[in-house]
Amino acid sequence: MKNLAFAVILVCGPALAAHAADAKTTWADKCAKCHGAEGKGDTKMGKKLGIKDYSDASVQAGFTDEQAFKALKEGIKDKAGSTRMKAVEDMSDGDINDLVAYVRGLKK
Ligand code: HEC
Repeated sequence: MKNLAFAVILVCGPALAAHAADAKTTWADKCAKCHGAEGKGDTKMGKKLGIKDYSDASVQAGFTDEQAFKALKEGIKDKAGSTRMKAVEDMSDGDINDLVAYVRGLKK
């Protein structure tokens, strides 16, 4: 089964790449494992890292779009300098802005 899945990825690779900039897809692929599909941070990783609930309006009010942008562009480190969230790779500033907008949309 693993090989089959790999073959599907190879065949569909170019098509997937064309949609790589789509914030919803990026969220599901790269962000949801920590932040949860709905941004609640209720994943194993999310709990371990103490991620906040981004569906909560008061949490959303706790950071600006600029801070979110910077967090995505440069990553987040803790006081000891170890990485809490990696910087995004291969994304234009426009793609990052789309992601910030997507995160804002998680607010309930
Ligand atoms: C390795 C786990 C992990 C992944 C993957 C991850 N994050 Fe995070 N993210 C964190 C942690 C930890 C924080 C800081 C804790 C908090 O404030 O909830 C954070 C904080 C944030 C913040 C708030 C920044 C601020 O200024 O407070 C945003 C926005 C964010 N992440 C968006 C994303 C997006 C979009 C993706 C996918 C490209 C992503 N994250 C992927 C762990 C992750």
